[in-house]
Amino acid sequence: FGSRELAGLHVLVSAGPTYEDIDPVRFIGNRSSGRMGFAVAAAAVQAGATVTLIAGPVSLDTPVGVARRIDVRSAAQMHAAVLEAAAGADIYIGAAAVGDYRPLNVSAQKLKKQHGADWSLQLGENPDILASLSAQTAHPFLVGFAAETHDVASYAQDKLRRKGLDMIAANQVGEGLGFEASDNALTLYWDGGALELPRASKPELARQLIARVAERYRAVRS
Ligand code: C5P
Repeated sequence: FGSRELAGLHVLVSAGPTYEDIDPVRFIGNRSSGRMGFAVAAAAVQAGATVTLIAGPVSLDTPVGVARRIDVRSAAQMHAAVLEAAAGADIYIGAAAVGDYRPLNVSAQKLKKQHGADWSLQLGENPDILASLSAQTAHPFLVGFAAETHDVASYAQDKLRRKGLDMIAANQVGEGLGFEASDNALTLYWDGGALELPRASKPELARQLIARVAERYRAVRS
């Protein structure tokens, strides 16, 4: 992989989960490790891009050569950080598993258990980062991920259209693939095309994804 197919381009990558606080000791999170997104950032560096990485709460070292890393916790913080950094980006790859909902009331004090009573938590919808970007008149080339447990192809293609993306990378979660796993398998969809990337390590898949992103970017943007 010696070609510098993203030389001169600024690539923005989001990675990892988001944590939505309930109180000072509790939160709602998800099982994203951030490894796919970090591998994508590393592959973009290898392809010659200037890379900004926006990371949710993960325990991963910044890939060598990443120009800027911004750590965030919640979906709202990730939304703000991505929108700000996207102004200077040519390509945005949203590999983060952004929480869809957040507790509407975050308690400043630890909530006490009420013995013998159920408890319900009211959640509000988080903004969709990719959809916010695609609604802007000038926005980067947009790549999303779709992690699904079932009907992967149809959900992914629907997401591609609904969120106004240039490409989507779909993966099935489970069976030793996807979240918390070292391997993954992806199917890429874009307007008028699809490509299956069979099971491989996340760094290897990231390199293949970046090669296709570069190709499609050149096809539609230059
Ligand atoms: O709709 P779903 O959450 O499955 O879509 C996944 C894709 O959308 C990922 O690329 C993820 O980063 C992005 N996303 C987002 N903002 C959200 C939720 C998901 O950008 N609030």
